[in-house]
Parts: sequence; structure tokens; C-alpha cells
Amino acid sequence: MKARIPLLLAVIIALTGCGREPRIIESFNTGWTFSLDSVEQAWHPDFDDSGWRTLDLPHDWSVEGSFSADHPATPGGGGLPGGIGWYRKSFTLPGRARGKCVFIEFDGVYQESEVWINGHSLGKRPNGYISFSYQMTGYLRSGDSVNVVAVKVDNSRQPNSRWYSGSGIYRDVRLVMTEPLHVDQWGVYVTTPSVSRESAEVHAATKVMNRHQTGTELEVTSLVVDPSGKTVARMSSDISVEENRPVEILQELAVEQPRLWSVEDPAVYTLVTEIRTGRILTDRVETPFGIRTFSFDHQEGFSLNGTHMILKGVCNHHDLGALGAAAYPRAIVRQLELLKEMGCNAIRTSHNPPSPVLLDLCDRMGFLVMDETFDMWKLRKTRYDYHLFWDEWYERDLRDHILRDRNHPSVVLWSIGNEIREQWDESGEAMAIELAGIVRELDPTRPITSGCNNTSAENYIHRSGAIDVIGFNYHQNEFVEVPERFPGIPFIAAETTSALATRGKYDMPSDSVRIWPIRYGEEAPEMNGDHTCSSYDNCRVPWGSTHEEALLAMNENRFVSGMFVWTGFDYLGEPTPYRWPSRSSYFGILDLAGFPKDAYYLYMSEWTNKPVLHLFPHWNWQEGDTIDVWTYTSCREVELLLNDESLGMKRKPTGSLHMQWRVPYTPGRLVARGTHNNETVEQVVETTGPPAAIRLEADRETISADAMDLSFVTVKIVDALGREVPKAGNHVRFSLEGPGEIAGVDNGLQTSMEPFKASERDAFNGRCLAIIRSTGEPNVIRLQATSEGLDPASLEIIAEKP
Ligand code: GAL
Repeated sequence: MKARIPLLLAVIIALTGCGREPRIIESFNTGWTFSLDSVEQAWHPDFDDSGWRTLDLPHDWSVEGSFSADHPATPGGGGLPGGIGWYRKSFTLPGRARGKCVFIEFDGVYQESEVWINGHSLGKRPNGYISFSYQMTGYLRSGDSVNVVAVKVDNSRQPNSRWYSGSGIYRDVRLVMTEPLHVDQWGVYVTTPSVSRESAEVHAATKVMNRHQTGTELEVTSLVVDPSGKTVARMSSDISVEENRPVEILQELAVEQPRLWSVEDPAVYTLVTEIRTGRILTDRVETPFGIRTFSFDHQEGFSLNGTHMILKGVCNHHDLGALGAAAYPRAIVRQLELLKEMGCNAIRTSHNPPSPVLLDLCDRMGFLVMDETFDMWKLRKTRYDYHLFWDEWYERDLRDHILRDRNHPSVVLWSIGNEIREQWDESGEAMAIELAGIVRELDPTRPITSGCNNTSAENYIHRSGAIDVIGFNYHQNEFVEVPERFPGIPFIAAETTSALATRGKYDMPSDSVRIWPIRYGEEAPEMNGDHTCSSYDNCRVPWGSTHEEALLAMNENRFVSGMFVWTGFDYLGEPTPYRWPSRSSYFGILDLAGFPKDAYYLYMSEWTNKPVLHLFPHWNWQEGDTIDVWTYTSCREVELLLNDESLGMKRKPTGSLHMQWRVPYTPGRLVARGTHNNETVEQVVETTGPPAAIRLEADRETISADAMDLSFVTVKIVDALGREVPKAGNHVRFSLEGPGEIAGVDNGLQTSMEPFKASERDAFNGRCLAIIRSTGEPNVIRLQATSEGLDPASLEIIAEKP
């Protein structure tokens, strides 16, 4: 029997538009075909791509390639291949899309992309980091007819970056289907001009687009939904909109007793925008936002909701190690979790618009963000970089970046550029004024900075007067001069440190600092033959500092709003101080695989109130060696014992953030003991036996079977007693059963030529990493790891129905 809708219900549906979703957002990530080839005609809908590889996004083809010094990206770009790639996807429109405007949205495509729908070119976008969207409506076939989207990605002209860029559609793609009367893309702007603990004004500016043939009357309703899901404010206004002429309407709402967004309590509100004509709902958009105040002050530094705090930040590039640029949300969450644990509360998106996923996560996990647009303006840094596109694109890219990101409560600072060469060029003055003017026009609520390595007041960007917060890259010894050099202007250490380290490598004496290279590009003769750098915080670039030096400069000057350490994680490319075969950076507080280096615990001891007692190095040396033993700790005093014999009690000397003992080596058991808040804290390091077994530790043993979720499995080489063997380099092979795949392997070694997409890896200094991705089916994924001469290990990961 045919089911019938009762008449009354049908009338209600017709009147209210219920039953017809006003806005449909569908992920467009799955079911693409791909060819790494410059194929003529691949834009044509009838082109035969049956021989192409099929894949799901996000995808980065560079990270799938082999390392070579000959790739045009150079080691500075990670020594991985670029080229031209084509993506195609065939699809039919869902019936629900009938009568709708259909847009395709890209969060980022590296780079020089062109998109076609059914053979019609929708446009080109050279910038590899910017988000963009095209309307496809007029070119689509409905019903059962097949539509074909083709995307050409041209990353063949290299070098075009000072770091690894990745290649391809490496962030999300969506289809967005709206009624002809809809809220424009990035068309909602929420601000909170007045905020107190008692109440907050919430201003909602909404840009409505009418793609009907005629003008129309409509009602715009804004609702504020609090973090618990309760609607706490609502306002409706009537407006009329002409065809194809967007109209902006401002609504002022009030929220009583707002929960203020902060790093500790990242309370996210949602502004729901509804558009109705008559009673029919024609659009509904949700915009997350936060209610908070902040200020940068030239004497007091930074404060959030009236309370002074320091931005304890790191700079990061966008790559995710073995996953390359492919922006898997879980990989970004993992990075943020590791940083949060360390006490970090701020991220600089060096030096480009980040994945929107990162900003959503910063909103919800409580990070402050310095959101940066450019690494160069018109004067180039590499031969084929963005300077080639500057004239045509800078304004559009900058506008789109600000429009996209201006509702994120996490974003507290815009940066219009990093170490821009126009600092030294007269043209920089007018350009800074123009760029800052664009930012201010679109968002007057956040200050503007620029990370400058020319710290003088004569710097043309500084001279322009367009910068609200002076941002120094490095030069920590000059911080004290800032108040005089830039009177009345707030200050931030936009980039600091650039210390160099390889996890688990220790060069002694630990108290002499290696300054490598001699200058940019010029290797120092005494550099390590195996291309490692010491982890004692005694290796740095000449323009930078050790971790401690930058932290001390920060701590000494209250007016310094905060610091962004270069970098949180090692990244692909820029292998300073070495040349090939080094192919990834040494700057990270954590290595490329996400394993903490020792400095991680220095920050934890300085930036958190947790009990911290990190004792290093390992205790596998040669008899007769003299070893420098360090601790990073939150304890005032620490006693060191070797095989139960005390080597003395120490405090951190003035001007130092660690303790050091010089110890004649005998194998055994080294213990550090101190007290933190009257509780004993102890750390033990022991001489281990030879490698005997593998141990697997998954960061998550249950993941979602959504084909995007990841489990990061740390693979440790242990001795017969289960202790991690510090220098073990055993070769580990992986096999997998069940609905999963190995998305990447790594060990953090900057010179490794092993591919990231593989089912085997050498351990490096005791460990390696396997990243497991669910492939869509809920079931148990079983990972096996074997290595010659070692006891194997296995682990079960449960992929649960999403
Ligand atoms: C800075 C630059 C960064 C990175 C760093 C390495 O000058 O802003 O992008 O190159 O040096 O030390």
C-alpha cells in the first residue's frame, strides 16, 4: 500500500518549506580518479579516465614519491616530486538539489589549479593555500545524467616554496547546494563589541544573495545558541533584496551572563542565521563564534578577558609528517593535543592561510592564533613563488583569507607577512598600508602584525605606521630596546629560537653551543658527518637562539605579549644546517613523527604547573665516558643518584632553566628525585640490554570507521626487560588485517630516504611510527610488527561505526 501524507501535514510542509532542506552540504572527498601526468583533454567530460587510479581526498601526491636531490623542489622543498596532476570525479546530482544553486568549495589545492565542470572552465586559482569556491549551477545536468568535475593541479614550476608544500587537492572539498535566495559564502560576520561577565552585545552582519529573477521581501533571523545548545538570543528583521545584488543587514543581540571563551574554557557559541520568504525557510547557516575580549598593550602585554597572560606559542607549517600536506583532521588534533600537553596555548600559521579544520580545532581546544597570509609580496624568495601571481591575486587572496577566518574566536592577530623583503624596499611602506587597510576594512576587531627580521624602526613596514603590534623574528637581545624604539606600540616575539636537534642525539660538552651553519647556506666544518644535531639545546642557527635563551628573554620582559617558537614540529624541507641527504627540518620541539625531543619537557616545566622531571640522556654509553646529565624540572631542587649513590643535589643556576651534572659513566640505574608541591617526583633512566622485542602503543585503540580517522602507533624496540633501547635501529615490517591501511610510516630521522608510504621502516633511536587509517568498514584492524631476531608484536584497533 502506498503511504500517504495526511493533507494537513502536506499543507504545513508546503507552507513552511519543511521537508526541503534549504542548504545541503555534502562532502565531495570520495571517488576521484587521479593521474600524475600532463594529460591534454582531461578536462573534457568524455575523456576516458578508466585507466586512472581511484582515490579519496585529502590527497598529496608529492609525499607518495621517492626522495631525490634532483627534484626541482630541491632539498629545501623536501626533495620530493612536484609535477602536474589531474583529478576527475563523475557524479549525479541528488534529487534534493533540484532548483538549487550548486557550489563546489575547495579548502586548498596546491597549486595553480583550474577547475572544469562538464567541460566548462570555472576558473583558476594559483594560490595553493587559499580556500575558494565556484558556482556550477548553469553547467550541471540533472536526473540520471552524469556530471564530470575535472581539476588540473600544476606544481611543476619549482622551487616555489622555502619549505615542503605538497601537491594536489590536499584539503577537503564540498558540494554546497542552496536556494537561489541564500546567505553568501563567508556572508556572516559575528562581532562582540561589548563584553562583560554580566552581558555581551553580539552583532551579526549577514550578507544575503538573491539569485532569483526578481526582487523579493524576506525575513532574516539570527539566533544565538550557547555552548550547551540552548537558544539565548533571537532577532528577526525584514528586508528586501534586488536580484543579484547582495544586501548586508546588521542585527544587534544581547547575551546575558555569557560564558567567556578562553584557553582553559573554550566556550563556543553558534550563531544560527535563518532566511525566510513568507513562511518558507530558504537558508540556514551555522557560524561558530566566541564571546571574549582581548588586548595587546605596550606595557602589559597580552590579556584575555581582562586577565594578563602570555602567548606561549609555536610556529608550524601545514605538513603532517608522513602524511605530507594531506589534512587529516585527526593528525591535526594529535599535534594540538601534544602541544597542549606541553603547555603551548598559541599557534602561528606560518606562513599562509591554514586548513579551516585547524582553526575550528583551535576554537574548540583553546588555542590563540596568529593567522598569517603571506611569506612574500612582490619581491620573490624563490624563483617561481607567489610573487609571480602577486599583482593579479594579492587583494583577492587577502580578502578571502580574512573573510573566511574572521569569526574564529581563536584568531587574535592577523599577520600580513613573514620576513617580507619589502622591509628593505621603499615600496614596502605603501604596500603595508594598503594590505593593512584591506584587513581593517574587513575586520576592525583584531590587530595586525608582520613577522619582521629587520627590527629597526627604519624598516619600511614599521615606518608605514600600519602595524598595530610590532612582531620581531628573533633578535631577543633587542627586546629591551623595543619600548624606546617603538613607543606606545604593543610587541610580540612573532618568531623565536630556531634551535636544532635530532631526537636522541647528544653532543658533548653540552654547555658549548654549536652555531650552525656559519651563515645561511654555508656549512660549518665541524658539523656532524651523520647530519644530526644535538638534543641538549646546544645547537642553533646564527640568526636564532637556544630554547632557553628565547624563553629567558620572554620571561624578563612583561611587555612582550608572547612568543612563537620556530617550530612546534619538524617539517618536511628546509633541512638547515645541512644539505642533502637531509630533507626535513631540525627545528621542531617534536620530531617529524611527533615524538618529543628533550626540549618538549623544558617547555612543559616552564609553561605548565605540572610536576615535571625529565632526565636525559639515555644511559647506554661506553665505560670511561664522561656524560653530561641534564634535567628539565618543575622541582626547586633535584638529587641525582647513580646506582644508589648520590651525585649531589642541584638547583637551576641563575639564568639557566636546567640542571646539569657531569658524570663518569658506569652502567646501571640513574635516578633523579625532587619534590613538586610537597610530592616526590622521580625519573629513572637505566642501561638497557640489547634489542629483544617490539612493543606497539597506539594513541587510540578505537577509531571511527569513517575512512578518515587515524591511529598513531608508536613502535618501540625494547630489551628483554621491556626497556626502550635508545639507539636501536632495527628494521620493522608491518602487516595489517581488517578494514584499515597503513597511511604512513616514519621514524623522525631527518636524513631517512625510506618512503613514507610503505609497510616497513627502520627504527631510529629506539622507535618508529605507523599511522593506521580506517578504510570504511567497522571491524577489528590487526597490526603485526616483525623484525629479524626480535619477538614480534601485534595490536588490535577497533574501527567503530561512525
Ligand atoms: C626564519 C623564517 C622561517 C624559517 C626560519 C628558519 O627566518 O621566517 O620561515 O625559515 O627562519 O630558521
